Amino acid sequence: MSLYDWWAPTYDALRTPFAWLTPRVHLTLDKALRSAADRRVLDLGSGTGFLFRRCLENQAVPSTYLGIDASAGMRRRATRSAVAAKSRCAVAFERCDVVEAVDRFDRQGDRFEMVISSLLLAHLDDPQELVRRSVDLLEPGGEALFLFFAEDGHGLLRPIVRCFLWLLGARPVDVAATVDALTVGAARRSSGQFEVHETRSLLDTLVLLRLQLQR
Ligand SMILES: C[S@@+](CC[C@H](N)C(=O)[O-])C[C@H]1O[C@@H](n2cnc3c(N)ncnc32)[C@H](O)[C@@H]1O
Repeated sequence: MSLYDWWAPTYDALRTPFAWLTPRVHLTLDKALRSAADRRVLDLGSGTGFLFRRCLENQAVPSTYLGIDASAGMRRRATRSAVAAKSRCAVAFERCDVVEAVDRFDRQGDRFEMVISSLLLAHLDDPQELVRRSVDLLEPGGEALFLFFAEDGHGLLRPIVRCFLWLLGARPVDVAATVDALTVGAARRSSGQFEVHETRSLLDTLVLLRLQLQR
């Protein structure tokens, strides 16, 4: 049983207030998620389905939504909340390691119009490799969103964030290297036509990166 299996029943009780405490990033996230309407969306590290619910709250109903998560407990809760939402979206949550899933989609030629991921990267040995590989899965004109804790946040919060992530077996993420990974991936996909936006809150500790590929 993973830590997240154990945490799954009470996870949302902490996740929702955390979003209220970091309004700048979450308002920007809401705005970005509105473009998920009628698109094929892949959510890496989908947890209890936080981003899926956030899409619906923003009146953005994807055409299909596939969430990938390694924890059976988190997946179960995501599936339950998606059923309760009764959306017209074809939604599925799969229990799988994200690196394996991205490998499989790439091999099979599966492509998505949006790849989104919230609070996953800190758990990976090579977060930038996953970011680059995720961009490979985007259709022309596609978008990627990555929300994560930064290594270079405000000095006061840095040890607290580090300690919190350590308890989860995770570590903060190098922002510049992640922007580079998005840029390298995007340059391969769209012959140089793309934009990357960065938004921060919680004393610069929480970061949202948004990549938009041009057609
Ligand atoms: C902090 S939670 C974030 C959940 C959700 N995205 C959110 O924002 O509330 C991190 C999630 O990533 C999942 N996870 C961590 N490492 C993973 C991996 N290698 N493959 C798949 N899922 C992973 C965990 O099971 C957990 O559900």
